[in-house]
Amino acid sequence: MIGRLNHVAIAVPDLEAATATYQEQLGAEVSAPQHLPEHGVTVVFISLPNTKVELLYPLGEDSPISAFLAKNPKGGMHHLCYEVDDIIAARDQLVETGARVLGSGEPKIGAHGNPVLFLHPADFSGTLLELEQVPQSTAA
Ligand code: CO
Repeated sequence: MIGRLNHVAIAVPDLEAATATYQEQLGAEVSAPQHLPEHGVTVVFISLPNTKVELLYPLGEDSPISAFLAKNPKGGMHHLCYEVDDIIAARDQLVETGARVLGSGEPKIGAHGNPVLFLHPADFSGTLLELEQVPQSTAA
């Protein structure tokens, strides 16, 4: 069901500092910050040859990553994102086999303009999983 690793997300307490670390110290290609009010985060994408890293910073009052940063003040790995061909089929199959989908259970549009869903970390070895539906043409 799952395809490529789309990105690894890291929650950061200082987006500018983390961006500078990736750009200057690690020599990676970084995007401009993108504000995603519907997800309560600002994101910066780091492009690597085989995947991406997503830096997450809280946006707004009830950001889903505020509690995570309160527990992990220096930041930390927040989730993994796997690509799927059909997010509704993937969700239905996962729910049938006992996985819990976070939120309303309906996909939202993520940072890349594609539908995304999050799965409960307790069902996946303590790791929050994001599924992203990626069109076939670019998933190849
Ligand atoms: Co993500």
